Parts: sequence; C-alpha cells; structure tokens
Amino acid sequence: MRLWDSGSTEIDGAILAFTVGEDPVLDKVLLPYDCIGSAAHVEMLATIGVLNEEEREALRDALSDAFIHASTGRLGISQEQEDCHTALEAWVTQCTGEAGKKVHTGRSRNDQVITALRLYVREQLLQLAAVAADLVEVALKRGRQHRSDLMPGYTHTRQAMPSTVGQLFFSLAECLIRNIEAFVAPLKLANRSPLGSASGYGVPLPLDRQLVSDLLGFDGPDINTIYVQQTRGLLEASVLSALHQLTLSLSRFAADLIWFSSEAFGFFHLPQQLTTGSSIMPQKQNPDVLELIRVAPASILGRYNAVTTALHGLPSGYHRDLQRTKGPLVRSFIDTFATLVVMRKAVDGLKVDTDKCAAALTPDIFATDRTFALVRGGMAFRDAYRKIKESEPEAMANELVFAGRDHLGAPGTDQTESLRAALIQVQQELVGFAAGATRSRELVNSPDI
Ligand code: ARG
Repeated sequence: MRLWDSGSTEIDGAILAFTVGEDPVLDKVLLPYDCIGSAAHVEMLATIGVLNEEEREALRDALSDAFIHASTGRLGISQEQEDCHTALEAWVTQCTGEAGKKVHTGRSRNDQVITALRLYVREQLLQLAAVAADLVEVALKRGRQHRSDLMPGYTHTRQAMPSTVGQLFFSLAECLIRNIEAFVAPLKLANRSPLGSASGYGVPLPLDRQLVSDLLGFDGPDINTIYVQQTRGLLEASVLSALHQLTLSLSRFAADLIWFSSEAFGFFHLPQQLTTGSSIMPQKQNPDVLELIRVAPASILGRYNAVTTALHGLPSGYHRDLQRTKGPLVRSFIDTFATLVVMRKAVDGLKVDTDKCAAALTPDIFATDRTFALVRGGMAFRDAYRKIKESEPEAMANELVFAGRDHLGAPGTDQTESLRAALIQVQQELVGFAAGATRSRELVNSPDI
C-alpha cells in the first residue's frame, strides 16, 4: 500500500500507473543504496534517542538483509508501493515490527531519493572510471605497438602530414584520461549528504546531519534544506554532461575506425565478431558495432536535454517532474558501460595493415616536413614554405620524418609513460570518493563496491 494512503480512496489503475511510471523498474538500481542511506539514518536516530538499542540492532540487521536481497534483485517493488522507498519501509517493518514504523522519522522520500541517487552515482562513476582506465591501458598497448607505423594524418579528410597508427591510439588514451577527470565535478556534487532536509524544510527534531554525512563517507552535509531539493536534476545533468563527453571520444574514434577500415582505405580490418552481415548481400561485413558506438552520445545528449529542460522554470522544492530525471540517468550509465566494453574489444582486436597504411602516404604529404627541413637548416619559415610550394612533390625517407619529430606527444614518440602518469594522477583524485563509498557500505556489512 502507498505510504500516504488512508485506504479510503479507490485506486484508479491508470492514474496509479501514470504517476508511478517506471519507478518499480528503475528503482531496483537505487534500492541497495536506499538500504545504505537508511542504515546511516537509523544510526543517527539511535544516537539522538529516537531508537533504543534493540530497535537499532533490529533495523541494522533488516537493512543488511535487504541490501543483499536488493543487490541480487530479490527485493521487488510493486506498483502499489510506488517506489523503492516504500518497498524498503514495508520490508523493514515486516522484519522488525514496531521498530520499522520509526525508520522514516525525520526524513521524507524527497531527501531519501536524493541520498540514494548520490550514493548510486558515486559508485557508478567510480566503476565507469575503472572500466575507462582499462580501455586506456589497451589503447596505450596498441599505441606502443604501432608507434612507428606510418599512416597519413588528415585534416578536412585530406592528407595533411605524416602520422602514425600509434598516434591515433595514444590520442584515444589521452581523451579518455581527461574524460575520467571530468567525473570529479559530478563526484563532488554527489559526495555531500542531503539527509535531514526532509521534504525541503527540515524537521523539528535535533537531527545530527554531520554524523549521517560521516557515516555515508560524504565530504559533509549540504547546508540549506531547500537547496538540497534544487540539486535534483542538477547532479544528473552534471553526470550526463560527463558521460556525453566520454561517449563523444568513443564516437569519434569509432568514426575513424569505420572510415579507415572501409575498402577505400583498407588500413584496418575489423575482427569478424565486430562485424555483422547483410540479409541480401552475401559478401557484406558491416561495422554496425562501431556505428552504434558512434551514435551513443546522441541519446545521452538527448537525455541531458530532457533533464535540464525539466528544470526550466520549475519553482523551488520537490515536484513530481523530477521523477522523470531518473530514467535518463540510469539508462545513460547502462549505455556508457556497454559502449566502453565493446570499444575495448574493438581496440584490442583491430588488425592493422601496416603496408597499406604506409603506402597511402602521397608524396604531397611530406611538403610541410620538407619545409621544416629547410627551417632546421636556417631558412626563414615563409621563405622555406614558398620554396617547397613551388617545387615538385617529393617523398621523404621514414627516418627523416621521425628524426625531426621528437617533441612531447609527436607522432612516432612513445607516449606510454607520460600518459600512464597522467592516468595515475587522475585516478588519485578519485581515491577519496572510493574510500567514502567503501565506508558507506560498511553500514550494511558489504564493503566491496
Ligand atoms: N519516486 C519519487 C521520485 O523519484 C520519490 C519521491 C516522491 N516524493 C513525493 N513527494 N511524491 O521523485
């Protein structure tokens, strides 16, 4: 039964389904985090004397059990229960009786859902960072492997300057490192405790908001009770913006792979598992997997728009509109994980035809390098530029191309060490958040993220 129901109103099924929406499904991912948030709340209620020791023990046990059931999908949410918060209170009350009736003291579903969302976001971003870091390692491996394999570098889809296959892989690694770094902003927003703000206006009880924050491994409580409600949707937007950037890196790399693996280029070959066939053309091996990676940021940006426009003109405080920001968040995490996992397979399994790559360089492409050979000999750049422009195109030996190019990050250089150092530095920024997540899980005796 719905928490707020007196039992006297007849339920209109269509209205119930409309207001509940996708919550019974989406909230399954939040339920374990609602257990953690509730466990912190219970500890605090005990320290301020709302719960006695026996009640605290009983609730702690029930919430730890609920956490296990929720994490394995065995704690269901019925439509009548509306959302995970009601389902959890019902479970806890069933397990503990009188104590369960006190668990909601001093909180509202409004601060409860924000708590669960923040705990969920913190762990999802940390897990995503780990999966992205794994892809960075694979990209570094491929970069090092092909660091001296020449291929044309393009601007405007026209041959520009000599580059290497390794340079492309290293570029993916560095994109991802900075994309992971962009997780810090949403992680900071997520790492504050909303509990105690209740429906948006606090409660007339001596709540210890700092204690709850400490137990949940957050940096501290948000201060203003109305502000807490203002953050719903904003955290989601910050996450979606970071996921959009990450998937954009993957998308552009996928576009390169699609282009360079086409018959016109033949630089790369996609392993068979990464291609799909045609129902009519027997010979076809299509890069559908990469095309789906290419389009991934489109839906995330669409969801970012859905979330931010839901906030436009919305008066302060909680409104049911905010419930609709949950689906875009959860779906974008699911999509981003899947996209990363598949891209890892593509980067790892990609075959490179180094002969075709090298043979593709036209004599024209060496013009800038020849210009700089004159510059190295002392000629002014503009004079050298004119001289080469007026001369016949001429290819250069590979050694000469690489000889002049040894500055940081140049094609042909091994960037593994510097990029790995950058990755480690970014990962260090995440350590505190991970410690907080572990601390929060201790409340339900399940410390591993
Ligand atoms: N399921 C709701 C949501 O996601 C929880 C908060 C409900 N609060 C309320 N006042 N109706 O927004």
